[in-house]
Amino acid sequence: MFQERIYNFSAGPSMLPVEVLEKAQKEILNYGGTGTSVMEMSHRSKAFEAIIAQTEADFREVMQIPDNYKVLFLQGGATLEFAAIPMNLLKTGVADYVRTGQFSTKCYKEAQRFSDKIHLAASSDDKTYSYIPQQEQLDLSEGADYLHICFNNTVFGTKWNYIPETDAPIVADMSSCILSEPIDVSKFGVIYAGVQKNIAPAGMAVVIVREDLLTGLEGKYPTYMDWKAQAEADSMMNTPPCWCIYMCGLVLQWIKENGGLEARKEYNAKKCAILYDFLDNSKMFKSAVEPAYRSMMNVTFVTGNDELDKKFVAEAAEAGFINLKGHRSVGGMRASIYNAMPMEGVEKLVAFMKAFEEANS
Ligand SMILES: Cc1ncc(COP(=O)(O)O)c(C=O)c1O
Repeated sequence: MFQERIYNFSAGPSMLPVEVLEKAQKEILNYGGTGTSVMEMSHRSKAFEAIIAQTEADFREVMQIPDNYKVLFLQGGATLEFAAIPMNLLKTGVADYVRTGQFSTKCYKEAQRFSDKIHLAASSDDKTYSYIPQQEQLDLSEGADYLHICFNNTVFGTKWNYIPETDAPIVADMSSCILSEPIDVSKFGVIYAGVQKNIAPAGMAVVIVREDLLTGLEGKYPTYMDWKAQAEADSMMNTPPCWCIYMCGLVLQWIKENGGLEARKEYNAKKCAILYDFLDNSKMFKSAVEPAYRSMMNVTFVTGNDELDKKFVAEAAEAGFINLKGHRSVGGMRASIYNAMPMEGVEKLVAFMKAFEEANS
């Protein structure tokens, strides 16, 4: 039993900023003098319409999203978007996919349900996804409808260190890195993300899509999956995840009040460097990722001894550093240090790792 908040290194759902939780707590019974909670409010009410409009405006401001992009708030998480992508974008049937980990592989497999011409442009599975294929390693198809990449690989702890050059629109899964640093949205056709890591509680995906790609759905697909129809309905084709959108708005306000994405990048770069520097100097713990491809958000590491890994994870949890166990498919450890993880959480974790190393060597 913990009496206070502890450091939660979960890959998602994950920590939210304390200021955001406190604001939500303050407003939970009576939002803005409406006498109701956002949880109880009609999505057609003036109050909620203002919330969703402000959330979208803040998204646009914080990410500097150009005017020719729509911002959609959709249910089903990033996983449902794995299917929405081929439904909305496949025209010739040919699309390029790069496999750099677990979710990009799932997404690639999902696309294969819609076309037998889905092309694997590159994969880093030859080295257990510890690197990102570089431009010259990409085997891109002529006239592909799009190129799909997963920009930050949550399970393996890698991140794309460049934006590929291609004539096709790039579709990027940014579930585990969105809002962690500035990104040039104009280089992408579609950016999408499950919100439960860096934006809000679970229950929604954000889809940022260039308008010329909104051509409507052909085929017998559910209307809900149609990005064009969703854009025309301002993400309110049906009852949207109102609470999630509201929380997303609070997180965006918090980012704005704290210097925007430039400040996030500086903070996140310093924060992950504390951990990587320790890993690079430790005799017990090691990063499995080549330095050029290391994620700022998900730091994976191992001791090389499964029993020692287990002992570390258990003792860390007792000390108030929870969810450090690596993904079940890879083992080892992973510290997910999204925007809401404070610097001191990582400093204290490193101090704990040093003490563990001393006591166990
Ligand atoms: C990179 C990435 N893509 C997709 C997903 C799946 O997201 P969701 O659970 O929102 O479907 C996750 C995580 O859970 C993820 O980390």
